[in-house]
Amino acid sequence: MPSVDVSDEPAARHNCVVAEHVLELTEVREPANRFVCMPKVAVQPLNIEIEVPEGETIMGAAQAQGYYWPTTCGGEGRCTSCACMVVSGMEHLSPRGRSEERVLVEERGAKILEKPIRLACQAMVAGGDVVVEKPGVRPPFELSTSS
Ligand code: FES
Repeated sequence: MPSVDVSDEPAARHNCVVAEHVLELTEVREPANRFVCMPKVAVQPLNIEIEVPEGETIMGAAQAQGYYWPTTCGGEGRCTSCACMVVSGMEHLSPRGRSEERVLVEERGAKILEKPIRLACQAMVAGGDVVVEKPGVRPPFELSTSS
């Protein structure tokens, strides 16, 4: 099937009826050669890099790609099992919220807030790369050899 270059086509216009109002919407086509770079999170000591879609958490992105990330609450921000040390790129993470701080203090003491520790299930990545340390992260399909 031949490919069609739509870059020179005029924007399509659609009528959309919403609660007795007719809205005219313009469909905007993005250039076909547009590259979207996702931020990456490097995880040590496993030495892997995970691409993280905008607005996704570190743990969510790792799990979506098949990695095991320690958790006992399933990512609800209650257990701190997912906590990781941010080595660099803290500025590319969503700010620590009050709930995250409260759980960290309850589980690990007030001094924890002086350290670059984040709950991987709460920290969303945006705008740049991050490096974290998290022992216990395992690659997809790692089979146990013990029996
Ligand atoms: S997975 Fe439990 S706090 Fe993050």
